[in-house]
Amino acid sequence: MGKVYYISKNVGLGLLVLGVSALATIIALSIAYDKEKAKNQGRPGDGAADSTSMPTPPATLFTPKEPWDRYRLPDSLVPVSYNVTLWPRLEPNADGLYIFTGHSAVVFKCVKETDLIIIHSNKLNLTNFHGHLAKLSGLDEVTAPTIQKSWLVVKTEFLVLQLRSRLAVGATYVLYIEFQGELADDLEGFYRSEYTEDGVKKVVATSQMQATYARKTFPCFDEPAMKAVFSVTIIHKRGTVALSNGREIDGVIDGMPVKVTTFEPTERMSTYLLAFIVSDFVSIQSNQNNNLLIRIWARKKAIDDRQGDYALNVTGPILQFYERYYNATYPLSKSDQIALPDFNAGAMENWGLVTYRETALLYDPIVSSTGNKERVTTVIAHELAHMWFGNLVTLRWWNDLWLNEGFASYVEYLGADYAEPTWDMKDQIILYDMYKAFAVDALASSHPLSCREEEVNDPAQISEMFNTISYNKSYLNTFAFDNTEYTDLWDHLQKAVENTPGIHIPHTVHDIMNRWTLQMGFPVVTIDTRTGSISQKHFLLDPDSVVDRPSQFNYTWFVPIKWMKTGVEQQQYWLLQKTVSGQDWVLANTNVSGYFRVNYDLENWSRLLSLLNTNHKVSHLPIHLSNVSDTLHCFSKIISTTLALTTTKYLSKEKDYIPWESVLRNLNYYILMFDRTEVYGALQAYLKKQIQPLFEHFRTITANWTRVPSGHTDQYNQINAIGIACSMGVRGCRELIRGWYRQWMETPNHNPIHPNLKSTVYCSAIAFGGTEEWDFAWMKFKNTTVASEASRLRAAMACTKTPWLLNRYLEYTLDPTKIRKQDATSTIQYIAQNVVGLPLAWNFIRARWSYIFQQYGKGSFSFSSLISGITKRFSTEFELQELKKFKEDNLHVGFGSATLALEQAIEKTTANIKWVTENKAQVLKWFTEASK
Ligand SMILES: *[C@@H]1O[C@H](CO)[C@@H](O)[C@H](O)[C@H]1NC(C)=O
Ligand SMILES: *[C@@H]1O[C@H](CO)[C@@H](O)[C@H](O)[C@H]1NC(C)=O
Ligand SMILES: *[C@@H]1O[C@H](CO)[C@@H](O)[C@H](O)[C@H]1NC(C)=O
Ligand SMILES: *[C@@H]1O[C@H](CO)[C@@H](O)[C@H](O)[C@H]1NC(C)=O
Ligand SMILES: *[C@@H]1O[C@H](CO)[C@@H](O)[C@H](O)[C@H]1NC(C)=O
Ligand SMILES: *[C@@H]1O[C@H](CO)[C@@H](O)[C@H](O)[C@H]1NC(C)=O
Repeated sequence: MGKVYYISKNVGLGLLVLGVSALATIIALSIAYDKEKAKNQGRPGDGAADSTSMPTPPATLFTPKEPWDRYRLPDSLVPVSYNVTLWPRLEPNADGLYIFTGHSAVVFKCVKETDLIIIHSNKLNLTNFHGHLAKLSGLDEVTAPTIQKSWLVVKTEFLVLQLRSRLAVGATYVLYIEFQGELADDLEGFYRSEYTEDGVKKVVATSQMQATYARKTFPCFDEPAMKAVFSVTIIHKRGTVALSNGREIDGVIDGMPVKVTTFEPTERMSTYLLAFIVSDFVSIQSNQNNNLLIRIWARKKAIDDRQGDYALNVTGPILQFYERYYNATYPLSKSDQIALPDFNAGAMENWGLVTYRETALLYDPIVSSTGNKERVTTVIAHELAHMWFGNLVTLRWWNDLWLNEGFASYVEYLGADYAEPTWDMKDQIILYDMYKAFAVDALASSHPLSCREEEVNDPAQISEMFNTISYNKSYLNTFAFDNTEYTDLWDHLQKAVENTPGIHIPHTVHDIMNRWTLQMGFPVVTIDTRTGSISQKHFLLDPDSVVDRPSQFNYTWFVPIKWMKTGVEQQQYWLLQKTVSGQDWVLANTNVSGYFRVNYDLENWSRLLSLLNTNHKVSHLPIHLSNVSDTLHCFSKIISTTLALTTTKYLSKEKDYIPWESVLRNLNYYILMFDRTEVYGALQAYLKKQIQPLFEHFRTITANWTRVPSGHTDQYNQINAIGIACSMGVRGCRELIRGWYRQWMETPNHNPIHPNLKSTVYCSAIAFGGTEEWDFAWMKFKNTTVASEASRLRAAMACTKTPWLLNRYLEYTLDPTKIRKQDATSTIQYIAQNVVGLPLAWNFIRARWSYIFQQYGKGSFSFSSLISGITKRFSTEFELQELKKFKEDNLHVGFGSATLALEQAIEKTTANIKWVTENKAQVLKWFTEASK
């Protein structure tokens, strides 16, 4: 267990260690199992992470002879501590290059005899000392061997030192290296971020190390398990401030033209959690939590406008909540959070110095919406959850990312719920996370949570692991059974299993969990009230697709069934055999937290449907049924498409957000498949009829749109009502929003649109307006200093139906002075979401693939969603051929982190074609009749 987890500090002797050891056992088992499977299989590496033919075959297919040709570090050396000094230059040098210089000394211990030192180093120019790229010395009177030869291996990103004799086991050495790197604007490692404030260009040096970019900042043992203590020094210009993971100790040294800031040594930690920032940002702070220093950093203007206040308000309570939840005090002496103008991921949980996109940390009470506020809360809650789970306790290798992200994705709801108890955060978990995971995990090309370590090797593969499945599936499997501490959960699970008769295998919690984590996918459970049988089956989007990946569990699961019979909650049990009976209605998965789908016999379905029409308030019933209307179900032919559609009929009576939102998400698939066909007319007529009462409802409760609904989720549903009503053509809607937007155009300094409604109103006004509306939005976009406003406008400009405006906008995405680099791929996606923009965006990325790939491809987080975003509507044979040709034509360029997404796009398109062929006629008929 000690091997799997590194617990830096002797904290949490109570629940944390207990809980973690339970988890650790599972992971240990999963790794052991993975090893076993790899041995028994002819072709290791035959998995999701490298399922396409990449130009350079990953090293998994064979074992390279030389240790420096493998992607993984040898296990002979273990780092103990580093002294790192960095000096970023925020002005270009004589060659116009932004650079940083630095030196580092790493103390490491030899644990296995070796005459090689292999350490990561990428894109750094190393200083030559007497013909070698490093200096080696021994510690505590140990004599170090001399260096025979040193060289860099570009492919595996290593610096290799061949020694004349062996290092002694148990002895400690120091490796000293001086280096110079480029402070590029590539969002990787130590990088440069530029932004304009009051017409002045500003440069910030900042960093993003996860997953494999610390090695681009200084030479280091850059794997998560290689934890060490880091003593950091940053040299920077006077007038700027330097930040890192530790608290700053001192700054000025008299007589120096620059400042030298040193930081408290960190706790023992992984390299991917390091952070270094030099900026002229300012901060606000509080000391409410037992004198823990909590600071929020941002551009001066944003702080002056009080945009950091909300984040500061919620951070203290969220940290307090986690201290109680984990039963461990916050592990560090300070908590910094900083909003960066140019940042690739939404946020990064660097230990003690969390970095955010501005939209994820800053909240302006006047211009931001409720949705913006909720995002700030949940992202902060997510990142702070990692301060313990992930940072204090770290995954061994990237294949177990699910544990890290899954857990944080789950507890973020608890943290956010604590900070904002009136928001019903726990219900939203279903919408935000479960559906996303269902959609991806229903493919035959999905992957189990736990991959074999060898399947995840090179940086592009590691980046692929950060996909929807890792983020969303795991908490459901593991933690969503209850909200108590998970030690209670294991006990509870163990007891539940022990009380269930008829299970033939040794039914420990581990057995149960293994089936969820070691095999991909999830089951559909069918309950037949006529025969009383309950059965399960691997749920596949395309029931005819072939699952290549073998599973030792034959794709069966232990399913926690909690069900209700005629309104009475029944005891939970573990599905293997159980009977139900009678003419009463039966509803399973009652709290909708189980990671599986449910189907019934037709008679029970009609009992549920009629119940829905008479009393739709019964325990989450609408959510269940909208769950059912989910296209995934009809896809897999488990229920008929028309039965699924029938569950949406009661909606004209529904006012609540969660059922509406989930139905709308599901109907979105119909819209995507049919908005270029004659079905769309009928669909539009039906949805118009269904949304009309909701639109009227909100008009009434907001006194003719002059007030804001009081409930948190009502505010969201008002956005749905207006958005759908306008796009379906409900009378009065378009005029209403056009009036608001016009009013704004006439008085550009006074925006009359309520922040909650801005996204929808901007999008509709631009969609149904012309060049004038678009240009006004662009002008506002260029001038706003509020990130969330900029991001709304950026999305809204993609809503226009005018092709030349869309094409011009596409061109803007490749010009960083118009659209920031971090926003380019998502802007292209927005355009592709628009039915008019789709063909334009598709042509655009095909024509410029190699350029886009070079600029944004390698390891970029959002890149795979570009492919899945653009191909969402693909549903014709012609489009499938285009997609395949695109893949072939660009094999030489590659797809990097989008490799898996491209495979999934091909699979999904194939499934779409089939589904449309089989369902189009009956869907048209259904909508035509239902809209009468
Ligand atoms: C942690 O749990 C122990 C008992 O297991 C308890 O004595 C202690 O007060 C708890 N600490 C916190 C911070 O809740
Ligand atoms: C690291 O820095 C500290 C403080 O300056 C110093 O005492 C120590 O010797 C340094 N360690 C190495 C290996 O250079
Ligand atoms: C590293 O060295 C190469 C070759 O001399 C040079 O082209 C490059 O600019 C250098 N990079 C930095 C950041 O100094
Ligand atoms: C932050 O908390 C203070 C004190 O409770 C409150 O007055 C202020 O409105 C809050 N700010 C935001 C943006 O929520
Ligand atoms: C999987 O199926 C095979 C062949 O039908 C059977 O021998 C094996 O016991 C099954 N394994 C499990 C875990 O059900
Ligand atoms: C609602 O407002 C519109 C203009 O925004 C106005 O034309 C209409 O008469 C108002 N309706 C009611 C019932 O006040």
